[in-house]
Amino acid sequence: MAGDRAGTLSPRVRFTLNGAPADLDPRGERNLLEVLRIDLGLTGTKYGCGEGECGACTVLLDGDAVRACQVEARSVAGREVVTVEGLAPAGRLSPVQKAFADLGAFQCGFCTPGMVVATTALLRKDPAPSEAQVREALDGNLCRCCGYARILQAVARASELTRAEGGGKR
Ligand code: FES
Ligand code: FES
Repeated sequence: MAGDRAGTLSPRVRFTLNGAPADLDPRGERNLLEVLRIDLGLTGTKYGCGEGECGACTVLLDGDAVRACQVEARSVAGREVVTVEGLAPAGRLSPVQKAFADLGAFQCGFCTPGMVVATTALLRKDPAPSEAQVREALDGNLCRCCGYARILQAVARASELTRAEGGGKR
């Protein structure tokens, strides 16, 4: 892959992205969100606050929901990153994506990828969380359209679909 602007080779960071080998240029203090959106073209992960406060940039890192804007790009070496795009391989919606779509759990949709990824992380660990656990898991994901009631309904539906599919694999 290409070197840096001065023409010298920069050490590439190798990792797994949405199930496939990938690498990135960790130049400077770049964060994972910047690399995903700008270098890798995965714009499903949103830039909201850039300060770890809104959850719009949530991705899975080794299965845990993390804020990509707060993850140093070089720190993903050897690890597995999954973005919202990676939840629908071959275009087949995951149970969580299907539930959000079926319930119309969005207005502008800006928060939706982060909500979907955070919900996915939760249901992979516990396919049948209580409402209190759902609220806690999504506490840091903000919806500026205040669509929280629909979002909670969608998570409940996603839990049903996930269990019907045999667990939290997707
Ligand atoms: S953009 Fe990362 S938490 Fe808001
Ligand atoms: S649907 Fe608009 S921010 Fe949540």
